[in-house]
Amino acid sequence: MAVSGTAGDGGGRARKVVLAYSGGVDTSVCIPWLLREWGVEEVITFAADLGQGDELEPIRQKALAAGASQSLVADLVDPFIREFAFPAIQANALYEGRYPLSTALARPLIARELVAVARRVGADAVAHGCTGKGNDQVRFDVAIGALAPDLKVLAPAREWGMSREETIAYGERHGIPVPVSKASPYSIDLNLLGRSIEAGCLEDPMVEPPEEVYALTRSVQDCPAEPQVVELAFEGGLPVALDGERLDPVELVRRANSLAGVHGFGRLDMIENRVVGIKSREIYETPGLLLLIRAHQELESLTLAPDVQRQKRQLEASWADLVYQGLWFGPLKEALDAFIRATQGCVNGTVRVKLHRGNATVIGRQSTSDSLYVDAMATYGADDRFDHRAAEGFIYVWGLPTRTWSARHR
Ligand code: ARG
Repeated sequence: MAVSGTAGDGGGRARKVVLAYSGGVDTSVCIPWLLREWGVEEVITFAADLGQGDELEPIRQKALAAGASQSLVADLVDPFIREFAFPAIQANALYEGRYPLSTALARPLIARELVAVARRVGADAVAHGCTGKGNDQVRFDVAIGALAPDLKVLAPAREWGMSREETIAYGERHGIPVPVSKASPYSIDLNLLGRSIEAGCLEDPMVEPPEEVYALTRSVQDCPAEPQVVELAFEGGLPVALDGERLDPVELVRRANSLAGVHGFGRLDMIENRVVGIKSREIYETPGLLLLIRAHQELESLTLAPDVQRQKRQLEASWADLVYQGLWFGPLKEALDAFIRATQGCVNGTVRVKLHRGNATVIGRQSTSDSLYVDAMATYGADDRFDHRAAEGFIYVWGLPTRTWSARHR
């Protein structure tokens, strides 16, 4: 067994590199930087379609124009939703109780594909455009280290020490067009699960996000006046239908996004704890994913045994933490997945959610096959079958330790 890994393999660099490419300034500048400053012989770019809605052909061309020898693109929307988003729904994964990991979930998939491409083209390194302050560098580096310990990971933006202006200027000198949106002060990450917006005026945690930062969700003023009820069906803890129509995972998420977005649901403004210890102010809009998690949680409350439900809640927080922290390919993930998988067989049924002016309110839930809600136990009516007198003996025993302690100490 060989565990690779000097940190920061600055010297030696690499010969043939596969670069994770988004078409943005940073990843574009990585191409001439790798070739000219780091003496790399060949840069092959890889861009993933994760449902961000960008046209991939211009991005492909842009990489070639910047000096890439090959520019590869792949449609990964389907595996993104099936293998990454759906397990997150089963895990009700919310980092720090709020952020549904829309960006974090994409990273292990991109890392996996980078490694696959590197193997295919015989590269000796992969590269990404992440800076040294963010979570994404952690996620890429750890994932690649787990999947391909022999591949070097190059992160030019972690080392070049250029400001944004300098980066743009360097790009310009090497034939990379100045971004059209040079005026936009925001840093945005986008995929089918949502958008993340940072920087600019948002860096002041006391400043309200201007309306212009949002693109997937309407402001409350612009929402329809009438509420809309949406019915979400789950099988084995996975969403399968919306308003009675069975949909494949990608289409289901798309519909959930547009329904919730129209009603202004799914915005998040939070201070979060990054892996590298920085507190940062993040704006998210993740309408569909948050809607699906909320409905899934609700169905679990109807179908899971109380002790399983309580235990799961604790493990969900660990699952969200480890995904946020870049440990997707680690052993804890596998162990927690085994637990979660074991709980989802009975999560079958339907949840009704009312969307209205920024809210998604659960108004009904049903499981014909797996509901643990028993009318005769719950009712206060004439059909009540619960043995009220049995409660007395139970409480005698239940309260014994408290009475004992109180007799001694109070
Ligand atoms: N803070 C979020 C995360 O770590 C999103 C970061 C995405 N990057 C961006 N430029 N907005 O998952």
